[in-house]
Amino acid sequence: MHPEILSEARSLVLERINSIINAKSKVSDSMLYTSTAESKMIRSSLLISASKKNTSLSKSSAINLATSIELLHSYSLIHDDLPSMDNDNLRRGKDSNHIKYGEAIAILSGDALQTLAFELVANDDDLGSDLKVSAISLLTDACGYKGMVLGQELDITSNSMQVDEEFIKKMHYLKTGKLIEISLVLGFLGYKRFFEYKDLIYKLGKSIGVGFQIVDDYLDEFGDQNEIGKPIGSDLKNKKINILSILNEEECLELISENHIESLEIAKKIFDKENDKDIFKIIDYIYQRKM
Ligand code: IPE
Ligand code: IPE
Ligand code: MG
Ligand code: MG
Ligand code: MG
Repeated sequence: MHPEILSEARSLVLERINSIINAKSKVSDSMLYTSTAESKMIRSSLLISASKKNTSLSKSSAINLATSIELLHSYSLIHDDLPSMDNDNLRRGKDSNHIKYGEAIAILSGDALQTLAFELVANDDDLGSDLKVSAISLLTDACGYKGMVLGQELDITSNSMQVDEEFIKKMHYLKTGKLIEISLVLGFLGYKRFFEYKDLIYKLGKSIGVGFQIVDDYLDEFGDQNEIGKPIGSDLKNKKINILSILNEEECLELISENHIESLEIAKKIFDKENDKDIFKIIDYIYQRKM
């Protein structure tokens, strides 16, 4: 079960996804199949809860930005599961997209989710042109060939490489961390005190983003398939490099706990323990989750 703290973002984002994906086509069905399936909505929860400090961003724009991030994330998962990538048949507790719709439709719906994410920001009713361009530039930087795509490239090409913790953290940051980092950053889009807090916001985003993938690697080996809704042992099956390639279970749990403390320490410098409780709850969930 998800904690209550994630449900607000979840219902707002689901409503928006359902209102914008409305064509009658196989690709449209396939886009909805994965993007509205049972998921945590961590990225949109971070964005929406951070945006509560930021009176310069309308609620509707925060929902559009959060939805844009979740569409990009869903696209990345559909492609990540393909036979040529991780070849995983289960996602979000259901058949993976390519199992249900076939590879060709799955590739197309990933492509379409990606462009829709940018369309949503470009067509936002409240944001000024300068902020739209900034948001799209942050999104493309996080997802492109120097961001998530490079992380995925390292992930699929590093099988037999000798790697160290630095390499793994770099891969984690690129394939997963950057999108989580900008979820937080976009919550502060247009924030009048952004430049005062910029370095800390990026530092927190990176800490949570890398921490999130370390926990994902841990759950890939030690999680419960019924809870995580995807196959256990995918990384081992694919001989993937992950954090457990260099740490044993106990060392990995120690790293998770160190990362958790680090994230909370940074968060305390940006957010108020009393007034911004949600963000602290989301951070705790990211490190303590079983799904
Ligand atoms: C899974 O992300 C893929 C990674 C980047 C680790 P999530 O664990 O956020 O997946 P959903 O969105 O809840 O399905
Ligand atoms: C996925 O990493 C990262 C992206 C989709 C960009 P994983 O391959 O570890 O994600 P899961 O475990 O399949 O969700
Ligand atoms: Mg993968
Ligand atoms: Mg995978
Ligand atoms: Mg994984």
